[in-house]
Amino acid sequence: MSSNESAEARLYYPPEEFVRQATISGMDAYKSLCDEAQRDYEGYWARLAREHVVWHKPFTQVLDQGEAPFFKWFADGQLNVSYNCLDRNVQSGLGDKVAIIFEADNGRVTKVTYSELLAKVCQFSNALKSVGVGKGDRVVIYLPMSVEGIVAMQACARIGATHSVVFGGFSAQSLRDRINDAGAVLVITADEQCRGGKNIPLKPAVDEALSLGGCESIRNVVVYQRTGGACNMVAGRDLWWHDAVQGQGDACEPEWVEAEHPLFLLYTSGSTGKPKGVQHSTGGYLLQAVLTTKWTFDLKPVDVFWCTADIGWVTGHTYITYGPLACGGTEIVFEGVPSYPDAGRFWKMIQDHKVNIFYTAPTAIRSLIKAAETNPVVHPRNYDLGSLRLMGSVGEPINPAAWEWYHRNVGGGRCPIVDTFWQTETGGHMITPLPGATPLVPGSCTLPFPGIQASVVDETGAEVPWGQGGILVMKKPWPGMIRTIWGDPERFRKSYYPADFQGKYYLAGDGAIRDRNTGYFTITGRIDDVLNVSGHRMGTMEIESALVAHPLVAESAVVGRPDELTGEAIVAFVVLRRSRPTGEEAKKIVAELQAWVGKEIGPIAKPRDIRFGDNLPKTRSGKIMRRLLRAIAKGEDITQDVSTLENPAILDQLKHGAG
Ligand code: PRX
Repeated sequence: MSSNESAEARLYYPPEEFVRQATISGMDAYKSLCDEAQRDYEGYWARLAREHVVWHKPFTQVLDQGEAPFFKWFADGQLNVSYNCLDRNVQSGLGDKVAIIFEADNGRVTKVTYSELLAKVCQFSNALKSVGVGKGDRVVIYLPMSVEGIVAMQACARIGATHSVVFGGFSAQSLRDRINDAGAVLVITADEQCRGGKNIPLKPAVDEALSLGGCESIRNVVVYQRTGGACNMVAGRDLWWHDAVQGQGDACEPEWVEAEHPLFLLYTSGSTGKPKGVQHSTGGYLLQAVLTTKWTFDLKPVDVFWCTADIGWVTGHTYITYGPLACGGTEIVFEGVPSYPDAGRFWKMIQDHKVNIFYTAPTAIRSLIKAAETNPVVHPRNYDLGSLRLMGSVGEPINPAAWEWYHRNVGGGRCPIVDTFWQTETGGHMITPLPGATPLVPGSCTLPFPGIQASVVDETGAEVPWGQGGILVMKKPWPGMIRTIWGDPERFRKSYYPADFQGKYYLAGDGAIRDRNTGYFTITGRIDDVLNVSGHRMGTMEIESALVAHPLVAESAVVGRPDELTGEAIVAFVVLRRSRPTGEEAKKIVAELQAWVGKEIGPIAKPRDIRFGDNLPKTRSGKIMRRLLRAIAKGEDITQDVSTLENPAILDQLKHGAG
């Protein structure tokens, strides 16, 4: 078979029925959008911004490259994101339509219509204003998956406050760092969160964070009473959500903000230092959220959409809080976990709520495959999933075997799968199939979203031929992109517009390869010291810093190891300030260090495996040989040249875990 034929054989064409009703129908439609962007880049985005976003004051400027790479889009236009998501739908007759179907951890279902959601957002906006929060203030949101989480974010958008959501799984220390960096005036949290049948306290982490120092900018804490569990309220600082909204009117004039006004900050890990506050705009971000929801998810107001992400991550921002609501869809918001009460929960919820479009992460799919193999009762074939018409994947590469299983067993072989590549920094999808147009190849995110100028280059910035791996870059700015790193513009410039490419290209931080025949992109993984564990992004340096903060630890190096379930697993090599432990003692210290990292960063950062050595493998100039550590972590035989190694004997020590 020629290579051409083999590429053909792996293609999954969009089903005709899907193509007929798709918003972007057929490859010609896709290509004509790409051509339009090619001919007149600014004209293309301006047309879409006028057609898909409601402006209070129309823009006359499109892309401003004056202070590159601090690009501006639609800068003289004014709008409000919450108006675009709520008022617009109510005014166009969707007021009584269900906006959110909330399913609690215990299975209780609550439905909220667009009119009700608008009223809740206005009330909470008025409550925020009554405690002195206004345009430009930063508000930290540390809430579980809830209607209130979405209301809090939308209310910030409504009054022009900039939200910074912190995932509920992050520790008090991480929360403190984010509050401190953002200079936030208010924290919104809950007494407890409910996950997997357990009530987990949340408010104590806020109390601890605020007691650590460096959070003096915080004036108030608003607490949503989720469970009624014990909750310490600090007089004069803390107030209950229900008291704050009591007596507040259910109308609130939106604050019209400039298109470049920061809608939100979202902290994410990089290869160096503390997490960085990715700053997003209002106008360009909203355009990207709306367009990708309409084109990648083919979402129409009749659809029931379910994105299983948490609002603590960018996926929850763009494809729960903003995109689906701006498109007038009905969406599921799920409080719980996929494994409770059993691993059939997702399939049961798709069946119960007649979900049409389902978006989840490869790690979840892989864990549900495993569960279905061990317990046939929770296999998707036992549920009626006939309502599904489209499925998506995000956050990490999806291995072809998991893709095929998802396609066959969940989608019944009839639903396209959109494997969407994007990042916290990109605001929305960047490389993704359009389901009514793009033939699919399992494991490939296929082609750039229309208008996005993705390319694969070498270290000098020269494009590499198809079939050859390289560095993924974006050759032109796009509306939804990161605007800066909060408080650190130089770090923004250096991280994303490095001098290697003369500051011209956006560096995604991933490697990629384009198929020799189709030009389809496959992401080959991060090229920096960032790990992807269950679709969660973690910096190795952050984990190393957390480890060396422990009094016992002298030095550490953290690497990733491929893992069948979680994509990557964290492996830490540690040198202690005392002799190298073995046996039971080593196990005890491993457990202590794991718990320590959980407390310093959050449970998602806990190393799976910790190895002790008298030293780390270093070159004679003292550089840690990470490539060697990666090989050891994988259990590979060391075939690499170790002649530059200062201390080859320690390799043997590091090969063995603590039991
Ligand atoms: O390495 C890529 C991987 O996740 C990184 C972005 O992580 P984060 O900012 O947390 O956003 C995740 C949700 C958008 C990327 O640099 N990644 C994301 N989507 C894919 C992916 N890798 C392969 N295929 C994808 N579809």
